[in-house]
Amino acid sequence: MLSSILRQKFIDFFVTKHNHKEIPSASLIPENDPTVLFTTAGMHPLVPYLMGEKHPQGTKLVDVQKCMRTDDIDEVGDATHCTFFEMLGNWSLGDYFKKEAIQWSYEFLTTELNLNPDLLCVTCFAGDKDAPKDEEAAKIWESLGFVKAENIPENQKRRIYFLGKKDNWWGPAGKTGPCGPDTEMFYYTGSNKNNPYEKGGPDINKEWVEIWNNVFMQYNKKEDGTFEILKQQNVDTGMGLERVTAILQGKNSHYETELFQQKSTGKSLYIVLDEISNSANSSNESIKSKRIILDHLRSATFVIGDQRGVVSSNTDQGYIVRKLIRRAIRHGKKIGIQNYFCSNLAKEFIEIYSDVYPELSKNQQKILNEMQKEEEKFSKTLETGLKEFEKFLDHLKVNNQNQLSGKDAFLLYQSYGFPFEMTKELCKENQIEVDENAFNQELKTHQELSRLGAEQKFSGGLADHSEETTKLHTATHLLHKALRIVLGDHVQQKGSNITVERLRFDFNHAEKMTSEQIKKVEEIVNEQIQKGLDVSFEELTVEEAKQRGAIGLFEDKYSKLGNKIKVYKIGDFSLEICGGPHVKNTSELKNFKIVKEESSAAGIRRIKAVVGD
Ligand code: ALA
Repeated sequence: MLSSILRQKFIDFFVTKHNHKEIPSASLIPENDPTVLFTTAGMHPLVPYLMGEKHPQGTKLVDVQKCMRTDDIDEVGDATHCTFFEMLGNWSLGDYFKKEAIQWSYEFLTTELNLNPDLLCVTCFAGDKDAPKDEEAAKIWESLGFVKAENIPENQKRRIYFLGKKDNWWGPAGKTGPCGPDTEMFYYTGSNKNNPYEKGGPDINKEWVEIWNNVFMQYNKKEDGTFEILKQQNVDTGMGLERVTAILQGKNSHYETELFQQKSTGKSLYIVLDEISNSANSSNESIKSKRIILDHLRSATFVIGDQRGVVSSNTDQGYIVRKLIRRAIRHGKKIGIQNYFCSNLAKEFIEIYSDVYPELSKNQQKILNEMQKEEEKFSKTLETGLKEFEKFLDHLKVNNQNQLSGKDAFLLYQSYGFPFEMTKELCKENQIEVDENAFNQELKTHQELSRLGAEQKFSGGLADHSEETTKLHTATHLLHKALRIVLGDHVQQKGSNITVERLRFDFNHAEKMTSEQIKKVEEIVNEQIQKGLDVSFEELTVEEAKQRGAIGLFEDKYSKLGNKIKVYKIGDFSLEICGGPHVKNTSELKNFKIVKEESSAAGIRRIKAVVGD
């Protein structure tokens, strides 16, 4: 099924069969929410109505919303992650609730899309102190032939799994606002269709792809972190158009669908890129670069061409546009493209999407001019910048070092326009580290605060210090200390990155960690969580902090800052230099789990870990 048919079927199903009103896609740039750069979900523009304001179109709405999520940008290049995507959604604003929402979702999937019901499984909220286990949703699934996974007889298909907040709770979109338990639908894309549960359910087997999420927005999350029942019980749903299109067409990824094919000829945009680069390399690395180029230029086209369009700049959304285009150009160079190509690709996307998003053809000239301008600007310095980077690299190798200094990274940034993410990526490809803290310090010194602001929003997705990232900050301190206990005092932080989903921690250690060591570290961290240790900070001088045995980055920059530094204390377990923010008590973390341990560069290991139930 073509994506255009899927869009139409979705709208028709809810408008004609279930009496919804169609609303147009809102802008990608949120109008009343300064805490986020982009509209990240269909519900985002509807927040006031979910909170109780009257919507002029009534209480049942349906739409296809343009969305943009930048948290996962590092994952782009695989089969499922996009920065820009379209979300199909239906809403009840205090109208219908779980029964209708679930029944209609099931009806749409199985009768309109003809998906095999035996290859569907669902998850429901397991319950915690904030809200009960969602037996109500599970019952409705049971009435449709699904069975709770814990009760399954052998070979029973259509299973219901119960998962915690991390998986089955959605929202709020910012720090506060409407949210609630959700039920998610998964479709099996693996090859063992007779026994789709052979390798487990959606909690462990990635062949189960999430296709639709029904959120029951019954709660309002308040500033103090507590939840109050909303005066109206809402439904918010979201289905990823790209993903479902690929599944319906049996394709490996959305890049193989018509959303990435030349409108007039049906030619794949992969091939268009091969023609532009005069080569047809299908190595994994080359495919990844092509996907990054296509994803990023599609996103940039949509942001510039939006009804509230933004062009390249050094702040906020404009900085993201710049970064997307520059990253695409660099990957263009990697696959051998010599000439300017961004506006050609943008033109393809304008043609592919103008029927659905006429703002793109209306803003065509602006999009093409901006792409061209940005590409000219960047291309002039990219090559000399890359040469400069090579020089730094040679220098490091000769001196047997493996870290690019913040100063050099800053030079690439300021003189050659390298977004910091790009420098990081180049370093990673060459297996060296980059001193991120020192880079940020340089940036501050040069009073580039607004640009820094955009960096942070870009890397974290959200501008605020969300509850999740705060917990992960504290978990990072616990992890750091636990690693020193298990592996030895040589362990030092070499890099750290936190998104709402996970923490990433790089540290020096020569060997791969054994599974016993990983287990031990988890145990130590979880013990500290169970103890419910208070987290507090003191302001100390560098000398005092050193005397008290604080760990963390004692660098010149701290002494340059002069007087006092902030040192965070977690019970008597950890003392570490850090700017915060942190939770008040470790019990808020609930549980800590290491999900990955891998090499990051020579002599540097990398851990990814998560917290929560
Ligand atoms: N707001 C929900 C989501 O984005 C539907 O998944």
